[in-house]
Amino acid sequence: MSPEEPAGGSREESSREGRRRRRLWTLLAALALAASRVLRPRGSRARSDRGPAPPVGAEERAERLVAALLLLTALSGAGFVTLFVLHPDTQLLGATLGACLALLALALAVASSRLVVSETKVEQRPMPGDPMEARQAAESVQAGGQRVTRRRLLGGAVGAAGAGLAAAVVVPVAALGPGLEDQLSHTPWRAGRRLVDAEGAAVLAADVNPGGFLTAFAEGVDQEQLGSPVAVVRVDPASLRLPAARAGWAPEGILAYSKICTHAACAISLYRSPLSPSTQARGPALVCPCHYSTFDVLQGGRVEFGPAGRPLPQLPLMVDAAGALRAAGPLSEPVGPAWWGDRR
Ligand code: FES
Repeated sequence: MSPEEPAGGSREESSREGRRRRRLWTLLAALALAASRVLRPRGSRARSDRGPAPPVGAEERAERLVAALLLLTALSGAGFVTLFVLHPDTQLLGATLGACLALLALALAVASSRLVVSETKVEQRPMPGDPMEARQAAESVQAGGQRVTRRRLLGGAVGAAGAGLAAAVVVPVAALGPGLEDQLSHTPWRAGRRLVDAEGAAVLAADVNPGGFLTAFAEGVDQEQLGSPVAVVRVDPASLRLPAARAGWAPEGILAYSKICTHAACAISLYRSPLSPSTQARGPALVCPCHYSTFDVLQGGRVEFGPAGRPLPQLPLMVDAAGALRAAGPLSEPVGPAWWGDRR
């Protein structure tokens, strides 16, 4: 091996290295150029970059298509409202509302891709000198006028679609009806109001037997009102352990409690009145059949078991001269579920 060989090998290696670097820079430059073309805003591209100009009349057809889609959106919204009022079938309601939203989405997609202007172009026009140019200018102005008319059509279609969609949202919300809070916090029970049965006959103290319970309502009041129904039971007066403030609320051992469960507003319809000595330690209780909340009637409706968050509201009672049961005052607290976090 001659002494020049290492020097020649080194030159060849360095020229290979130079070629590699040039190729790398060329590749990077090509990538940068491609990225700049892809990321360039759409409006800044020349028409020649984006293929041929759309055929004459294409924009007009697109506007008509968008208007038709918007009108179909309005019709679907109106169909939803009509079905909601006349024939509220869940599948049909879902189909019409889905069609309403899908048509609106399609109309917006077509409008954004085919109608929204994405480039600004200023064209200098010479003053028309000869009759041919003047006629062309007049036709151009006329075409612009037609376009204004189509824009009005589009505007009307947008308004109709918006109204249809708004109706499809507002009508179901309005159909939810009034809130219940008034019925929960304002019950019909007042001092002196008689307790009556489902037929409107007065409930007598003598009607209430130990071991059973009966349902009574506020006299002269719609029995559907949430605060009206109460469960009436009779216990041994000696077994009562009511709070001191409720002394006298249970004449002859007769107690009345709201029938609306304080867990989730089911109707209380079970009464536990133990007869066996082995179970008497638990005492009598009103029980909700939905999730088995159990309310101790001897202790003012205290929650003994279950998910209820607060006691059953108790109605103070008195017996009038005719032996009929009457309210001695309002219920001890609002009826219904403890949504307001009242856990006592
Ligand atoms: S509604 Fe009564 S326990 Fe749930």
